[in-house]
Amino acid sequence: MPKKTSQIEDRKLDGIQITLKENVQARGATTLLEDVTLINNSLPELNLEDINTETTFLNHKFSAPLLIEAMTGGTKEAGKINGNLATAAEALGLGMGVGSQRAALDSEAAAETYSIARKNAPNAFLVANIGGAQLRDLKIEEIRRLIDMIKADALAIHLNPLQELVQPEGEPRFRGVWDRISQISREVGTPVIVKEVGCGISREVATKLEIAGVSAIDVAGVGGTSWAAVEHFRALKRNLSEKALLGELFWDWGIPTAASIIEVKKAVRLPIVASGGVRTGLDMAKCIALGASITGMAQPVLAAAMESDKGVAGYLQRAVDQLKATMLVTGARDIKALGKVRYLVTGRLSDWKKMSQEEIRY
Ligand SMILES: Cc1cc2nc3c(=O)[nH]c(=O)nc-3n(C[C@H](O)[C@H](O)[C@H](O)COP(=O)(O)O)c2cc1C
Repeated sequence: MPKKTSQIEDRKLDGIQITLKENVQARGATTLLEDVTLINNSLPELNLEDINTETTFLNHKFSAPLLIEAMTGGTKEAGKINGNLATAAEALGLGMGVGSQRAALDSEAAAETYSIARKNAPNAFLVANIGGAQLRDLKIEEIRRLIDMIKADALAIHLNPLQELVQPEGEPRFRGVWDRISQISREVGTPVIVKEVGCGISREVATKLEIAGVSAIDVAGVGGTSWAAVEHFRALKRNLSEKALLGELFWDWGIPTAASIIEVKKAVRLPIVASGGVRTGLDMAKCIALGASITGMAQPVLAAAMESDKGVAGYLQRAVDQLKATMLVTGARDIKALGKVRYLVTGRLSDWKKMSQEEIRY
């Protein structure tokens, strides 16, 4: 049964409230970015003002390699959040994704909580969003309507098998998703980004996505927001003890963000978005050095977005300033140079790196 609009709205509100109230970040697992050491350069021969963080992603110019990741839409509160996120993205020359838009197909009021993003950000790179599991119910014209709703520069399709498993009203039905991704990539006329929601993308999946014709992959790995954790708390509220237990068991499940970048980079030539637990400009720099084209953050800007665009912009500007600082101490004048800085990989990330050299087996 397709989920009803009001049910989707309640679920989204829950997701926001739980992310703000409870600790739903990875517990035992990390991004493994701590296993990356960028090499210090004491003779950068650069002034801070020489550093240029501009970059191009999917033919769009960004002032810095940073996207606000998909979070919300559909409710009044969500409209306010999207409005504030968009104002901040526009002011800083960054990009932004909206949350899953399924509910907005049936409701004009819901659609406005997404389209506010384009209203407040006429020039920023905006990403539409839909779940892979929902594709089976949607026609190509409906997908195009989602894109038109925010005049999106790209469409993100999120893959979330673990979340659907733990979610009280989840539908863990993923058969046929690859075919639909292929069809949409061919027919929709807008670049398609396939993303996880916090469990990371493996090299096997990356290879299949490249064959499907997608334009970019957002790894959304382990180390930041855990959707098993969010759904664990939602299940607890509903006295669904088996689901709650499942969420607890899989809280830290998935591929750490740094490992996922290495896996995907090794397997395909597509641009990579690095997200999942990216929290600082130093994290951003490490992701770029590992091979990502751009980085993304969700949870860190959510609380600020409930209040104002200024708080969001403040957090993002600090991260960009930290990225600049990292570029100076690694001697990287621009993002291309940052992609080439030398770094050491240790610990568990080194194991992942070794494994990524092995032949892919299906
Ligand atoms: C409150 C909240 C809602 C989210 N909703 C969506 C969504 O609708 N679609 C989607 O693709 N990802 C969604 N995500 C996942 C994020 O886009 C991102 O992949 C993930 O949170 C990892 O980033 P983080 O560790 O910086 O939070 C959501 C994340 C949060 C925190």
